Amino acid sequence: MLIDTHAHLTDNQYDNDREALIASLHLDNVDKVFTVAYDRNTIESSVKLAEEHDNIYAIIGIHPSDVADYTEETIARIKELSSHPKVIAIGEIGLDYHYQGIDKEDQKRVFISQLQLAHEVGLPVCIHNRDSIGDCLEILKNNKDLLSNGGVVHCFSESVEIYREIKKLGLKIAFGGTLTFKNSVTAPEVCKIADMEDIVLETDCPYLAPHPYRGTRNEPKLTSVVATKIGEIKGISYDKVVEITHNNALKLFPKADR
Ligand code: NI
Repeated sequence: MLIDTHAHLTDNQYDNDREALIASLHLDNVDKVFTVAYDRNTIESSVKLAEEHDNIYAIIGIHPSDVADYTEETIARIKELSSHPKVIAIGEIGLDYHYQGIDKEDQKRVFISQLQLAHEVGLPVCIHNRDSIGDCLEILKNNKDLLSNGGVVHCFSESVEIYREIKKLGLKIAFGGTLTFKNSVTAPEVCKIADMEDIVLETDCPYLAPHPYRGTRNEPKLTSVVATKIGEIKGISYDKVVEITHNNALKLFPKADR
């Protein structure tokens, strides 16, 4: 069955049908969904949603665009929640230089601090990177010791060369809707040469719905479109892609394997 390793089910775009959507996941062959926090509020709402539903798990952390939320109180709360049975990773954390206005040094400090935190509490990391791969890779290389619990670079859209660097660090990559976009070039190139053992599925929903649903609200069931695309690119069956990525996701996030 499918696992969506990166969704934002707490988003208000699901306020009218969240319960129905979660209840119908298994009908679309979606086994588990990992809902990802990005600020102080979504840490609480993600954990609550995971507590209410067997098939939902929470990944908690502060996104680089929300570094102002990374206070002593937040750090203490993340640590406290890290031992919660449904909290499976720290994320999404990283760097985002796409929008101006968030100090780069603040972003780096908060990213490194959360890598340390993940190491300390024994959880893998979910890494966000946008227009910042040079600094991101430098931080990861300089803090390789902190990656002992593994992790994933989500919505991977960097080059083959960067994929090889990420792999050397023991990290995995996640493909979502962007792999299917008609103008997508580097993601299919990486997908083609990447080891199947390094790939997990994601949606980043409600954003980045795959082709031909681009521009509409994304949902975990559309991981099937991404799995189909991976199968096409690599010349392997859809069922095989689903099986391998399912196993990869549970290996990467062991607390979701129960
Ligand atoms: Ni996300």
